[in-house]
Amino acid sequence: MIGRLNHVAIVVPDLAAASATYRTLLGATVSEAIDLPAHGVTTVFVSLPNTKIELLHPLGADSPIRGFLDKNPSGGMHHVCYEVDDILAARDHLIAQGARVLGSGDPRIGAHDKPVLFLHPKDFCGTLVELEQA
Ligand code: CO
Repeated sequence: MIGRLNHVAIVVPDLAAASATYRTLLGATVSEAIDLPAHGVTTVFVSLPNTKIELLHPLGADSPIRGFLDKNPSGGMHHVCYEVDDILAARDHLIAQGARVLGSGDPRIGAHDKPVLFLHPKDFCGTLVELEQA
């Protein structure tokens, strides 16, 4: 059911420092920082030949990643995003198998303007999973 790895998201305490690490130390192609107020994050996209890394930093007081950074002050891996062809079919399959979909269960429009869902980490090897309709 799942397809390509769309991205791995890493929450960082300092976007400029993290961007410099990926650009200079690792030699990757790194975007400018982009504010996504609807998602409560500022993000930097690192383009790799086969996927992306998204560096995330909280934006605003009620950012959904604020608590993660409080618990992990030096940052850490936050989620992986897998592509699916049909997000509603994927959701219905997962729920039928007993997996938990976070929030209302209805897809939201994600950071790439495509429908996304998040799945409970306890059902997926301790990892928060995002599904994105490719
Ligand atoms: Co994501």
